[in-house]
Amino acid sequence: MSKTETILANARLVLADDMRAGHVRMVDGRIAEVGAGAVPSGAEDLGGDYLLPGLVELHTDHVEGHLIPRPKVRWNPLAAIFAHDAQVAASGITTVFDSLRVWPDKRAVGIDGDAPLLAGALAEAKAANALRADHLIHLRCEVATDTVVEDAEALMDQHEVRLVSLMDHTPGQRQFLSVDIFRSYYMKKSGISEAEMDVIVSTRLDFHQRYARDNRARLVKAAHARGIVLASHDDGTKAHVDEAIDDGVAIAEFPTTEEAARLSHRAGIRVLMGAPNLVRGGSHTGNVSAEALAGAGLLDILSSDYVPSSLLWAAFDLNRRNPAIALPETVRMVSRTPAMAAGLDDRGEIAPGKRADLIQVALAGDMPVVKAVWREGRRVA
Ligand SMILES: [Fe+2]
Repeated sequence: MSKTETILANARLVLADDMRAGHVRMVDGRIAEVGAGAVPSGAEDLGGDYLLPGLVELHTDHVEGHLIPRPKVRWNPLAAIFAHDAQVAASGITTVFDSLRVWPDKRAVGIDGDAPLLAGALAEAKAANALRADHLIHLRCEVATDTVVEDAEALMDQHEVRLVSLMDHTPGQRQFLSVDIFRSYYMKKSGISEAEMDVIVSTRLDFHQRYARDNRARLVKAAHARGIVLASHDDGTKAHVDEAIDDGVAIAEFPTTEEAARLSHRAGIRVLMGAPNLVRGGSHTGNVSAEALAGAGLLDILSSDYVPSSLLWAAFDLNRRNPAIALPETVRMVSRTPAMAAGLDDRGEIAPGKRADLIQVALAGDMPVVKAVWREGRRVA
């Protein structure tokens, strides 16, 4: 059988621990050689551009905007997946955990109940080999709801779920420490009235009382039984982190305080923050900033959250704002560390034997731009 080989040469290679000029040889979807010196014949000349590992995204709900492009418009789910996939790949992301919301509450604000639909469409797209990036499923489970465990287990049994996050957005908890912040955030976002908000808040408090503790324990058990990686979400206190440690959590998503980030990081739980938070210079809900955590050595992983192109931008921007954090280190936050945290040790770094997931990047001023993307050796964007 003949081998498929591509050589990318004359590049600034961003390796896991340093940068150097050189070339990468890809054979049959894997990196076969990371070389320096004379350019091999038949190589593609990258003109001195950066070559980075393909980015790994653990938490994005970006597909939802394609499924519901206007408040009352529902798009074809397969078409939504393709539009999302194209944008993700063109942003340099070669592995994406699509974060599907399991939030079975008719009064919840936003979309809910679409996880089975989107998981089905993803499976269909994958079966047709129609996707540019490698898509995996992350279930965002809202614990203070009545049927979240049954709904999540049904998805786990039918699809290859790789990551489960344990969320609790009850007003007065975690992300929304004050009920007033919760009210104004969702009223602005959704345009609902004061009276409707009163009902939502009292129902949510009641559901929290009835379901949160039990459902969290059941979801932890269900995930461990299936070898699914767990993430905590919006941890803010020592008690939250202690609970995460007890639950065998691997990733702390969006800790809201420096204390929670520090305790998680020290316990070996990888701290994940939003790339939008970093490039915007702060959190849109007023919690701790990603840049402050990075400066304190507490930031492990960046996530594009709701804007795919923010992931690569944040890696370059963090290094520009804080040159003490070298580019290989910021790139690790969007490649190798998220891959390892999610149990994927076959990718996330430019090294022999790893998947040939690579991106060619140039700078337009300070803004990085993706010029080409290869996934498992195949050009996909
Ligand atoms: Fe949250």
